[in-house]
Amino acid sequence: MKKIGILFGREKTFPPALVDRINSKNVKGIMAEPVQIDRVVQGESCGYAVILDRISQDVPFYRSMLKNAAGTGTAVINNPFWWSADEKFFNNVLMTKIGVPVPKTVLLPSNARPDDTTEESFRNLMMPMAWPEMIEYIGGFPAYMKPHSGGGWKSVYKLESMEELFEKHRETGQLVMMLQENIDFTDYFRCYCIGQKHVHIMPYEPRNHFHERYLPKTEADYPKEQMDLVRETVLKINKALGYDFNTVELAFRNGVPYAIDFCNPAPDADDFSVGPVNFEWVVENMANYLIERAQAHDAKKNNLSWGEFVKGAVAETTPKAKSTQKKAAAPVKKTTTTAKKPAATAKKPAASAKKAASPAKKAPAAKTK
Ligand SMILES: Nc1ncnc2c1ncn2[C@@H]1O[C@H](COP(=O)(O)OP(=O)(O)OP(=O)(O)O)[C@@H](O)[C@H]1O
Ligand SMILES: [Mg+2]
Repeated sequence: MKKIGILFGREKTFPPALVDRINSKNVKGIMAEPVQIDRVVQGESCGYAVILDRISQDVPFYRSMLKNAAGTGTAVINNPFWWSADEKFFNNVLMTKIGVPVPKTVLLPSNARPDDTTEESFRNLMMPMAWPEMIEYIGGFPAYMKPHSGGGWKSVYKLESMEELFEKHRETGQLVMMLQENIDFTDYFRCYCIGQKHVHIMPYEPRNHFHERYLPKTEADYPKEQMDLVRETVLKINKALGYDFNTVELAFRNGVPYAIDFCNPAPDADDFSVGPVNFEWVVENMANYLIERAQAHDAKKNNLSWGEFVKGAVAETTPKAKSTQKKAAAPVKKTTTTAKKPAATAKKPAASAKKAASPAKKAPAAKTK
């Protein structure tokens, strides 16, 4: 019997509905249940063919337990290694490389220093930072500021001025923030994506009150070309990242779908939040997908999904590693490469000193901890 386990926290609607739906299908050799853990022993299988993770973002113990499960053959959804490595800023970086439109975004150091660091820990950071250049790059105000890794609209600000930016940045403490171009959108869609192949488009109006954000509209209310573009963009994003369960939010400006928020590996799936139609879609499609993964599960193999970014990196690295070994054997080439390096590095401090000296740049008041 192959077991599918659901790992969850305070959620009350999606996990039990999923367990019931899988079991009600009576697929031979497959059963589902809430994950049961009474010990975590290194290198020992937890007994599940598949685990759907809904909570390890809040529970580091579970994240480590899931890596142990993945290392002993469980198909963990989403891949706990990639989830640990990824965040919203890197999401955007990857999109700029694969041609998915994203708002112009810069990364900001936290306003308060991380624990156990001092001013000395930040000697590589120029003060003041290049604020005018950053503001100009993102297109001025209004602008968005939000955590580089976060969710649930926590610490998301729409800012109207430089003064407000500095004031709000002080409120964010040790959070690493991103400063982002405002996309003045006409349409907004929140889309489930399962298994990097099933997409469900939910018309969404984030400017409405919480209970009225999922609109009583469907794909049929929009032009087919627009829906095809949404689907294509959502798939491209998830194939690159390698998420098997995710929501992607797209904001349309002048016909262009900007990816706003697409790092939601434990997306909202409560019936009272997404509504009965969307809930039915996510329960049914996730139940079928988990069964599919359980059937494909091979206990002797690694059963995780990886995105094109990681797969590409591995494919690139392997041949390079071989050719480096060859190069190392040739002493002439090695000397040339080493000799070039100091010259390139020597240029950098001059440019840095210039920027740091600029009096026009204001920094947010530094907090001393
Ligand atoms: N660059 C932007 N341009 C326009 N609107 C934005 C932008 N960034 C965020 N928003 C608005 O702010 C809302 C919250 O931002 P975002 O989705 O990035 O935060 P979140 O904390 O991940 O939210 P959640 O987890 O609830 O989806 C979005 O739904 C959108 O309405
Ligand atoms: Mg969002």
